[in-house]
Amino acid sequence: WAIHAPYVRAINELKKQRNAVILAHNYMTPQIYHGISDVVGDSLHLAIKATEVEAEVIVQCGVHFMAETSKILNPAKTVLMPDMEAGCSLAESITAEGIAEMRARYPGAPVVSYVNTTAEVKAASDICCTSANAAQIVAAMDGDTVIMTPDKWLAQNVAKQVPHKRVVWWDGACIVHEQFTAQDLRDFRDWNPGLKIIAHPECPPDVVAEADYAGSTANIQDWVTAQQPRQVMLVTECSMASNISDANPDVEFLGPCNMCPYMQKITLEKVLWSLHSMSGVVEVDPAVAEPARRAVQRMIDLSR
Ligand code: 13P
Repeated sequence: WAIHAPYVRAINELKKQRNAVILAHNYMTPQIYHGISDVVGDSLHLAIKATEVEAEVIVQCGVHFMAETSKILNPAKTVLMPDMEAGCSLAESITAEGIAEMRARYPGAPVVSYVNTTAEVKAASDICCTSANAAQIVAAMDGDTVIMTPDKWLAQNVAKQVPHKRVVWWDGACIVHEQFTAQDLRDFRDWNPGLKIIAHPECPPDVVAEADYAGSTANIQDWVTAQQPRQVMLVTECSMASNISDANPDVEFLGPCNMCPYMQKITLEKVLWSLHSMSGVVEVDPAVAEPARRAVQRMIDLSR
Protein backbone atom coordinates (compact mmCIF):
# COMPACT_ATOMS: atom_id res chain seq x y z
CA TRP A 1 0.00 0.00 0.00
CA ALA A 2 2.85 2.45 0.77
CA ILE A 3 3.80 2.71 -2.91
CA HIS A 4 0.16 3.20 -3.90
CA ALA A 5 -0.71 5.81 -1.25
CA PRO A 6 0.47 8.90 -3.24
CA TYR A 7 -1.65 7.82 -6.23
CA VAL A 8 -4.68 7.13 -4.04
CA ARG A 9 -4.36 10.56 -2.39
CA ALA A 10 -3.85 12.38 -5.71
CA ILE A 11 -6.80 10.63 -7.37
CA ASN A 12 -9.14 11.28 -4.45
CA GLU A 13 -8.13 14.98 -4.49
CA LEU A 14 -8.56 15.26 -8.26
CA LYS A 15 -11.96 13.58 -8.08
CA LYS A 16 -13.22 16.50 -5.96
CA GLN A 17 -11.74 19.11 -8.33
CA ARG A 18 -13.27 17.46 -11.38
CA ASN A 19 -16.61 16.65 -9.68
CA ALA A 20 -16.06 13.00 -10.61
CA VAL A 21 -17.16 9.64 -9.23
CA ILE A 22 -15.44 6.33 -9.78
CA LEU A 23 -17.58 3.29 -10.63
CA ALA A 24 -15.47 0.16 -10.17
CA HIS A 25 -16.20 -3.43 -11.07
CA ASN A 26 -15.56 -6.20 -8.54
CA TYR A 27 -12.60 -7.40 -10.66
CA MET A 28 -10.56 -4.24 -10.13
CA THR A 29 -7.32 -4.49 -8.15
CA PRO A 30 -7.65 -3.99 -4.37
CA GLN A 31 -5.94 -0.58 -4.66
CA ILE A 32 -8.68 0.64 -6.99
CA TYR A 33 -11.49 -1.26 -5.27
CA HIS A 34 -10.67 -0.14 -1.72
CA GLY A 35 -8.64 3.01 -2.36
CA ILE A 36 -10.41 5.23 -4.87
CA SER A 37 -13.84 3.87 -5.85
CA ASP A 38 -17.16 5.49 -4.90
CA VAL A 39 -19.32 2.59 -6.08
CA VAL A 40 -18.24 -1.04 -6.44
CA GLY A 41 -20.30 -3.91 -7.73
CA ASP A 42 -21.28 -6.34 -10.45
CA SER A 43 -22.35 -5.25 -13.94
CA LEU A 44 -26.01 -4.87 -12.96
CA HIS A 45 -25.30 -2.75 -9.89
CA LEU A 46 -22.88 -0.50 -11.81
CA ALA A 47 -25.45 0.01 -14.59
CA ILE A 48 -28.18 0.95 -12.11
CA LYS A 49 -25.83 3.27 -10.21
CA ALA A 50 -24.74 4.95 -13.46
CA THR A 51 -28.32 6.15 -13.95
CA GLU A 52 -28.17 7.86 -10.53
CA VAL A 53 -24.86 9.73 -10.88
CA GLU A 54 -25.20 13.46 -10.34
CA ALA A 55 -21.50 14.36 -10.56
CA GLU A 56 -20.27 15.71 -13.91
CA VAL A 57 -17.73 12.99 -14.61
CA ILE A 58 -17.86 9.20 -14.34
CA VAL A 59 -14.54 7.35 -14.32
CA GLN A 60 -15.29 3.76 -15.25
CA CYS A 61 -12.85 1.34 -13.68
CA GLY A 62 -13.77 -1.80 -15.55
CA VAL A 63 -13.87 -2.71 -19.22
CA HIS A 64 -15.02 -0.72 -22.23
CA PHE A 65 -18.57 -2.09 -22.50
CA MET A 66 -19.22 -0.96 -18.90
CA ALA A 67 -18.17 2.60 -19.77
CA GLU A 68 -20.38 2.54 -22.85
CA THR A 69 -23.29 1.34 -20.71
CA SER A 70 -22.78 4.27 -18.31
CA LYS A 71 -22.70 6.72 -21.23
CA ILE A 72 -25.82 5.18 -22.78
CA LEU A 73 -27.71 5.41 -19.48
CA ASN A 74 -26.50 8.86 -18.44
CA PRO A 75 -25.54 10.64 -21.68
CA ALA A 76 -25.14 14.11 -20.16
CA LYS A 77 -22.10 12.96 -18.17
CA THR A 78 -18.50 12.83 -19.32
CA VAL A 79 -17.50 9.18 -19.07
CA LEU A 80 -13.77 8.45 -18.87
CA MET A 81 -12.14 5.12 -19.61
CA PRO A 82 -8.58 5.02 -18.19
CA ASP A 83 -7.46 2.56 -20.89
CA MET A 84 -9.41 2.28 -24.14
CA GLU A 85 -7.76 -1.10 -24.79
CA ALA A 86 -9.57 -2.68 -21.83
CA GLY A 87 -11.91 -4.81 -23.93
CA CYS A 88 -13.76 -8.09 -23.42
CA SER A 89 -13.53 -11.38 -25.32
CA LEU A 90 -17.32 -11.73 -25.17
CA ALA A 91 -17.98 -8.21 -26.50
CA GLU A 92 -15.53 -8.87 -29.35
CA SER A 93 -17.22 -12.15 -30.30
CA ILE A 94 -20.38 -10.68 -31.85
CA THR A 95 -21.45 -7.77 -34.05
CA ALA A 96 -24.87 -6.42 -35.05
CA GLU A 97 -24.58 -8.63 -38.18
CA GLY A 98 -24.34 -11.64 -35.87
CA ILE A 99 -27.60 -10.62 -34.20
CA ALA A 100 -29.25 -10.32 -37.65
CA GLU A 101 -27.94 -13.81 -38.50
CA MET A 102 -29.52 -15.26 -35.33
CA ARG A 103 -32.81 -13.49 -36.03
CA ALA A 104 -32.84 -14.98 -39.55
CA ARG A 105 -32.12 -18.45 -38.14
CA TYR A 106 -34.84 -18.23 -35.44
CA PRO A 107 -37.55 -15.93 -36.85
CA GLY A 108 -39.64 -14.16 -34.21
CA ALA A 109 -37.49 -15.26 -31.25
CA PRO A 110 -36.52 -12.45 -28.86
CA VAL A 111 -32.82 -11.58 -28.58
CA VAL A 112 -31.40 -11.32 -25.05
CA SER A 113 -27.86 -9.93 -25.21
CA TYR A 114 -25.45 -10.01 -22.32
CA VAL A 115 -24.32 -6.53 -21.23
CA ASN A 116 -20.83 -7.71 -22.22
CA THR A 117 -21.52 -6.41 -25.76
CA THR A 118 -20.92 -3.25 -27.76
CA ALA A 119 -23.54 -0.50 -27.97
CA GLU A 120 -24.28 -1.57 -31.59
CA VAL A 121 -25.11 -5.11 -30.46
CA LYS A 122 -27.27 -3.82 -27.60
CA ALA A 123 -29.10 -1.58 -30.07
CA ALA A 124 -29.84 -4.60 -32.29
CA SER A 125 -31.17 -6.65 -29.33
CA ASP A 126 -34.59 -6.72 -27.67
CA ILE A 127 -33.24 -6.64 -24.14
CA CYS A 128 -30.00 -7.05 -22.19
CA CYS A 129 -29.17 -9.27 -19.24
CA THR A 130 -26.33 -9.69 -16.78
CA SER A 131 -25.19 -12.79 -14.92
CA ALA A 132 -27.34 -11.62 -11.96
CA ASN A 133 -30.65 -11.61 -13.84
CA ALA A 134 -30.20 -13.75 -16.99
CA ALA A 135 -32.60 -16.54 -15.95
CA GLN A 136 -35.22 -14.01 -14.81
CA ILE A 137 -34.99 -12.10 -18.13
CA VAL A 138 -35.15 -15.23 -20.30
CA ALA A 139 -38.14 -16.53 -18.32
CA ALA A 140 -39.95 -13.22 -18.90
CA MET A 141 -39.60 -13.35 -22.71
CA ASP A 142 -42.61 -14.19 -24.91
CA GLY A 143 -42.54 -17.34 -27.03
CA ASP A 144 -40.91 -20.75 -26.71
CA THR A 145 -37.50 -19.90 -28.18
CA VAL A 146 -35.12 -17.28 -26.80
CA ILE A 147 -31.86 -16.24 -28.47
CA MET A 148 -29.03 -15.53 -26.02
CA THR A 149 -25.86 -13.83 -27.20
CA PRO A 150 -22.93 -13.95 -27.06
CA ASP A 151 -21.98 -16.26 -24.14
CA LYS A 152 -22.71 -19.91 -24.97
CA TRP A 153 -21.85 -21.07 -21.44
CA LEU A 154 -24.05 -18.53 -19.68
CA ALA A 155 -26.84 -19.49 -22.13
CA GLN A 156 -26.43 -23.19 -21.39
CA ASN A 157 -26.40 -22.56 -17.62
CA VAL A 158 -29.54 -20.42 -17.95
CA ALA A 159 -31.24 -23.07 -20.13
CA LYS A 160 -31.05 -25.47 -17.17
CA GLN A 161 -32.70 -22.91 -14.89
CA VAL A 162 -35.47 -22.11 -17.36
CA PRO A 163 -36.40 -25.56 -18.74
CA HIS A 164 -39.73 -24.40 -20.24
CA LYS A 165 -37.84 -22.24 -22.79
CA ARG A 166 -35.78 -23.38 -25.74
CA VAL A 167 -32.61 -21.31 -25.36
CA VAL A 168 -30.37 -21.00 -28.43
CA TRP A 169 -26.99 -19.29 -28.33
CA TRP A 170 -24.12 -17.62 -30.12
CA ASP A 171 -20.65 -19.19 -29.93
CA GLY A 172 -18.90 -16.73 -27.59
CA ALA A 173 -17.03 -17.38 -24.35
CA CYS A 174 -15.11 -15.51 -21.66
CA ILE A 175 -11.37 -16.20 -21.81
CA VAL A 176 -11.16 -16.06 -18.00
CA HIS A 177 -13.95 -18.51 -17.19
CA GLU A 178 -13.63 -21.01 -20.04
CA GLN A 179 -10.21 -22.06 -18.74
CA PHE A 180 -11.54 -23.78 -15.60
CA THR A 181 -12.31 -27.50 -15.82
CA ALA A 182 -14.58 -29.70 -13.74
CA GLN A 183 -11.53 -31.87 -12.98
CA ASP A 184 -9.77 -28.82 -11.40
CA LEU A 185 -12.72 -28.46 -9.04
CA ARG A 186 -12.88 -32.18 -8.19
CA ASP A 187 -9.12 -32.20 -7.47
CA PHE A 188 -9.40 -29.23 -5.12
CA ARG A 189 -12.30 -30.85 -3.27
CA ASP A 190 -10.30 -34.09 -2.87
CA TRP A 191 -7.32 -32.19 -1.52
CA ASN A 192 -9.41 -29.97 0.80
CA PRO A 193 -12.35 -31.87 2.32
CA GLY A 194 -15.15 -29.47 3.27
CA LEU A 195 -14.08 -26.88 0.68
CA LYS A 196 -16.94 -24.80 -0.73
CA ILE A 197 -16.72 -23.95 -4.43
CA ILE A 198 -18.42 -20.93 -5.99
CA ALA A 199 -18.42 -20.43 -9.75
CA HIS A 200 -19.35 -17.59 -12.07
CA PRO A 201 -22.06 -18.62 -14.62
CA GLU A 202 -19.71 -17.73 -17.51
CA CYS A 203 -17.98 -21.05 -16.64
CA PRO A 204 -18.88 -24.14 -18.72
CA PRO A 205 -21.94 -26.04 -17.37
CA ASP A 206 -19.91 -29.06 -16.17
CA VAL A 207 -17.84 -26.65 -14.02
CA VAL A 208 -20.96 -24.97 -12.63
CA ALA A 209 -22.42 -28.43 -11.89
CA GLU A 210 -19.41 -29.20 -9.64
CA ALA A 211 -19.84 -25.95 -7.68
CA ASP A 212 -21.87 -25.44 -4.50
CA TYR A 213 -23.23 -22.16 -5.83
CA ALA A 214 -23.04 -20.04 -8.99
CA GLY A 215 -23.82 -16.35 -9.30
CA SER A 216 -22.73 -12.92 -10.44
CA THR A 217 -19.71 -11.34 -8.80
CA ALA A 218 -22.01 -9.52 -6.33
CA ASN A 219 -23.94 -12.74 -5.64
CA ILE A 220 -20.61 -14.50 -4.97
CA GLN A 221 -19.64 -11.80 -2.47
CA ASP A 222 -23.04 -11.98 -0.74
CA TRP A 223 -22.87 -15.79 -0.54
CA VAL A 224 -19.42 -15.77 1.11
CA THR A 225 -20.44 -13.00 3.54
CA ALA A 226 -23.61 -14.84 4.56
CA GLN A 227 -22.28 -18.42 4.66
CA GLN A 228 -18.80 -17.77 6.09
CA PRO A 229 -17.35 -21.06 4.79
CA ARG A 230 -14.10 -22.18 6.49
CA GLN A 231 -12.44 -22.63 3.09
CA VAL A 232 -13.74 -21.42 -0.26
CA MET A 233 -12.57 -21.48 -3.86
CA LEU A 234 -13.88 -18.71 -6.15
CA VAL A 235 -13.91 -19.98 -9.72
CA THR A 236 -13.53 -16.58 -11.34
CA GLU A 237 -11.14 -13.64 -11.76
CA CYS A 238 -8.36 -13.47 -9.14
CA SER A 239 -9.17 -9.99 -7.78
CA MET A 240 -12.52 -11.17 -6.40
CA ALA A 241 -10.91 -13.11 -3.56
CA SER A 242 -8.40 -10.31 -2.85
CA ASN A 243 -11.18 -7.71 -2.67
CA ILE A 244 -13.51 -9.57 -0.33
CA SER A 245 -10.94 -11.25 1.93
CA ASP A 246 -10.49 -8.22 4.23
CA ALA A 247 -14.18 -8.20 5.14
CA ASN A 248 -14.15 -11.98 5.70
CA PRO A 249 -11.09 -12.64 7.91
CA ASP A 250 -12.30 -16.09 9.06
CA VAL A 251 -12.66 -17.40 5.50
CA GLU A 252 -9.67 -18.99 3.80
CA PHE A 253 -9.62 -18.43 0.02
CA LEU A 254 -8.02 -21.36 -1.83
CA GLY A 255 -7.44 -22.63 -5.30
CA PRO A 256 -6.60 -21.41 -8.76
CA CYS A 257 -8.05 -18.25 -10.25
CA ASN A 258 -7.48 -16.62 -13.61
CA MET A 259 -6.47 -13.02 -14.33
CA CYS A 260 -8.50 -11.02 -16.86
CA PRO A 261 -5.89 -9.29 -19.03
CA TYR A 262 -8.41 -6.57 -19.89
CA MET A 263 -9.56 -5.73 -16.37
CA GLN A 264 -5.92 -5.68 -15.26
CA LYS A 265 -5.17 -2.91 -17.76
CA ILE A 266 -6.84 -0.45 -15.40
CA THR A 267 -4.21 0.83 -12.98
CA LEU A 268 -3.99 3.71 -10.49
CA GLU A 269 -1.48 5.46 -12.77
CA LYS A 270 -3.90 5.36 -15.72
CA VAL A 271 -6.84 6.54 -13.61
CA LEU A 272 -4.75 9.48 -12.38
CA TRP A 273 -3.68 10.40 -15.92
CA SER A 274 -7.20 10.09 -17.28
CA LEU A 275 -8.63 12.40 -14.59
CA HIS A 276 -5.70 14.83 -14.85
CA SER A 277 -5.83 15.16 -18.65
CA MET A 278 -9.57 14.37 -19.01
CA SER A 279 -8.57 11.81 -21.64
CA GLY A 280 -10.26 8.56 -22.61
CA VAL A 281 -13.66 10.17 -23.18
CA VAL A 282 -16.23 7.55 -24.22
CA GLU A 283 -18.73 8.62 -26.88
CA VAL A 284 -21.65 6.64 -28.27
CA ASP A 285 -23.39 7.72 -31.48
CA PRO A 286 -26.84 8.98 -30.33
CA ALA A 287 -28.53 6.99 -33.13
CA VAL A 288 -27.09 3.82 -31.57
CA ALA A 289 -27.31 4.98 -27.95
CA GLU A 290 -31.11 5.40 -27.96
CA PRO A 291 -32.04 1.83 -29.03
CA ALA A 292 -29.19 0.47 -26.86
CA ARG A 293 -30.57 2.41 -23.87
CA ARG A 294 -34.01 0.89 -24.44
CA ALA A 295 -32.53 -2.64 -24.27
CA VAL A 296 -30.59 -1.88 -21.07
CA GLN A 297 -33.42 0.06 -19.42
CA ARG A 298 -35.88 -2.74 -20.19
CA MET A 299 -33.54 -5.11 -18.36
CA ILE A 300 -33.26 -2.77 -15.36
CA ASP A 301 -37.05 -2.37 -15.20
CA LEU A 302 -37.60 -6.14 -15.37
CA SER A 303 -35.01 -6.83 -12.66
CA ARG A 304 -36.56 -4.57 -10.05
P1 13P B 1 -20.76 -9.68 -13.20
O1 13P B 1 -21.93 -9.01 -13.81
O2 13P B 1 -21.07 -10.96 -12.49
O3 13P B 1 -19.99 -8.74 -12.32
O4 13P B 1 -19.78 -10.16 -14.36
C1 13P B 1 -19.20 -9.32 -15.25
C2 13P B 1 -18.15 -9.98 -16.03
O5 13P B 1 -17.76 -9.50 -17.04
C3 13P B 1 -17.66 -11.26 -15.55
O6 13P B 1 -16.65 -11.77 -16.34
